[in-house]
Parts: sequence; C-alpha cells; structure tokens
Amino acid sequence: MQTTKTVDLGDPDLYTTLDRHTRWREYAAEDAMVWSEPGSSPGGFWSVFSHRACAAVLGPSAPFTSEYGMMIGFDREHPDNSGGQMMVVSEQDQHRKLRKLVGPLLSRAAARKLSDRVRTEVRGVLDRVLDGEVCDVAAEIGPRIPAAVVCEILGVPAEDQDMLIDLTNHAFGGEDELFDGMTPRQAHTEILVYFDELISARRANPGDDLVSTLLSDGELSIDDVVLNCDNVLIGGNETTRHAITGAVHAFAAVPGLLDRVRDGDVDVDPVVDEVLRWTSPAMHVLRVTTGEVTLNGRDLEAGTPVVAWLPAANRDPAVFEEPDTFRPGRKPNRHIAFGHGMHHCLGSALARIELAVVLREVAGRVSRVELEKEPAWLRAIVVQGYRELPVRFTGR
Ligand code: HEM
Repeated sequence: MQTTKTVDLGDPDLYTTLDRHTRWREYAAEDAMVWSEPGSSPGGFWSVFSHRACAAVLGPSAPFTSEYGMMIGFDREHPDNSGGQMMVVSEQDQHRKLRKLVGPLLSRAAARKLSDRVRTEVRGVLDRVLDGEVCDVAAEIGPRIPAAVVCEILGVPAEDQDMLIDLTNHAFGGEDELFDGMTPRQAHTEILVYFDELISARRANPGDDLVSTLLSDGELSIDDVVLNCDNVLIGGNETTRHAITGAVHAFAAVPGLLDRVRDGDVDVDPVVDEVLRWTSPAMHVLRVTTGEVTLNGRDLEAGTPVVAWLPAANRDPAVFEEPDTFRPGRKPNRHIAFGHGMHHCLGSALARIELAVVLREVAGRVSRVELEKEPAWLRAIVVQGYRELPVRFTGR
C-alpha cells in the first residue's frame, strides 16, 4: 500500500528515544513513503522503511546513484564534494577500482589475522573496567576496539596510535561534546592532516597497509587517497562502536544470553547477526534516482533523493517475527544492517569478527552485566547509537 505523510525526518530530535522504533514499525508495516519538505535537507527527500522498499532502492540493479552523496542533506543540486572520488559515494569504474584495491585489506582472511589484535584490545579494555565501578560502555568499551583496528589497517605506527585513537573517539563521539577545546569536526580535520603526513611517510617507505596500497595504484590523486582512508576510518569507527556497545547491552537486557554464549549453547555467529539487526547502527542511506522510477506505486522523476531507513527495514514485521525481541539464534536473519547491493559494507567481515571476539571475551570474563540505568541515545541521524550505557560488571 502506498501511504504518503509529510514530516522532516532529518530532525535529529526524533531519534533520541525508543519512540523511533514505534514510528518506524508503523511506517514499515504500511510500506509508507514519507516526503520531507526542505528543512534538514535543502531540497527535501522521500523516505522508505519496509525491508522490501529499502532493498529495492539499494539493490544491485536499482536505478539509483550515491554519487551525489549518501546522507540526508545532499542531492543533485547540493552534491557531496567527495562524489566520484570516495568509495561509498562513487559508482562504476572508480567504485570497482577502489573495492578491488581496498577489498583484500578488509577480507575475511585479513580480518582473521586482525582478530589477535582485537582480542588484545578487548582484554586490555576489560582489565580496566572489571573493577566493580559503574562503566559507561559507550565511552569505555565501544570506541577503543574499532579505532585500534582501523589504525592497524591504515598502518599507523605504534607510537602514534594512542593519539589517533583519542582523536578518532572524539571525532565520532557525538555531536555536542568538547575535548581539548576541539569540536568533533576539528578532531576529524586533525586526522585528515595526520593522513597527509602518513602518506608522505609511506611514499618514502611503503608497507602492506591501506595508505601504501592506495598509493601503489599510481593513478589515484592524493585527494583520492586521503578521502578513501577517511572512508575506511569513518566506516570502521562510526558504526562498529555502537554495535559493540549494543552487544554488551544485549548481555544486560536478554536473560540467559551471557551464560548461553559462554557455555556454547548458542553459536556466536547468529548472535553477532542478531546484534547487528537489533542495533542497526547505520541509520539511513540516501540515493538519487538516475531515471524515472516507480517506487511503492509513486512515479519519481530523475534526480529525486530517496532515503532508506535501515533500522526500520531490520524490524519490519513482514520479514522478522517479533522484531523488537532479541532472538540469539534467529534464522533466517536477512537484516540489511550492512546495506545491500553494490555498496554493501566492505568491512562486514571485520565488523563481525570484532563483535564475535567481544561477545566471547566478555562472556568468558563476566558472570553478570547489570544496567545501572536505561541507555541514553545519540541525537543523530546518520548513526543510531548509544550516548551512554552505564552498566556494572560482575567478574567470574
Ligand atoms: C559501507 C554499515 C563496519 C567500511 C557500508 C554501508 C553500510 C555500512 C550500511 C553501505 C552504505 C551505502 O550503501 O551507502 C556498517 C556497519 C558496520 C560497519 C553497521 C559495523 C557494525 C565497517 C568497518 C569498515 C567499514 C569495520 C572498515 C574497517 C566500509 C566501507 C564501505 C562501507 C569502505 C563502502 C563500501 C562501498 O561503497 O562499496 N557500511 N559498516 N564498515 N563500510 Fe561499513
């Protein structure tokens, strides 16, 4: 059924409470199409919510492009400057070339090699937080692990890693925090400046890291190299930190889950996928139509921006039974937390390994996770994430 409503869905205030799920579930159940007037986005945009409609917008042969940008705020008249250069906002030859170059560094085999580094990082973090004090998982556990992994992929020298991890944590920590007098945007700029230095160092002394790999192509501009390091930095940090925090949240919220993971009563892999579905940290992706398209019975002309809301699709009652319930062994679990189609997350194997290690290590060291208070949610539209998740761990 085609339903049209009008509301500015780019307003971050709509997403700070769990009411968002009620709204998304209603929209998904009606297969609604919502038009948002110009406001958060200069030209307005359509939104879809059902699993079917989101997959149709993102599918491999869908007549949509991400080259004008993939987030609310961009459209054909107000394109993302990185379009055609950065993997996630490029198409065709540039996109194929970048996936081929970067793919091996994030493959399942590469991810497996990084799992020792993940384990060391998780153990280090747990050593610090298993002291009986209240621990804010969103600040103390979620961010550190993906930031350390991305440093490894980028080839950041050991002596710079703590500095870069701190900057990364701050850059992606939420909209309204200050750190060392720096806004998150300034911290992100500092990282880009650091990438320039890293590029000069790798030019003189290449290795097997992402920077050297991108440079080895010989045809990419320095701008392309910086932008694609940034793509992996953002892709690897912004979402994974919230999925990791969500994994610990699941231990606190789902009775028996901790024991079942520890005792091997449930396979870890389906639990990882349920964490991904339940947390759906990538909140939306935007596309622009490349020709006339009919979507949910509505004719859209070329150049129309359409947003797919991934957490709505991942709790669509037509596809997921009891969608709000965390089911550790849910099968099938056709979530689209990593997107769908040509731009399906290139770091998905790595993210899955990070989550599996976190689940196993926490279950191995902890007998109980208690919520001190309900989580506070980020005021954001790109990421569905935790602002604060205070818990108390009881060690084994
Ligand atoms: C793309 C989600 C972890 C790197 C994407 C997309 C989504 C996504 C939804 C598609 C965007 C679009 O269609 O426009 C997630 C989630 C993660 C995660 C939920 C963790 C739970 C990672 C990690 C890395 C990474 C760990 C790398 C270290 C990328 C890259 C792309 C991408 C490079 C662009 C792929 C392309 O355009 O072909 N991710 N991601 N992601 N992600 Fe992830």
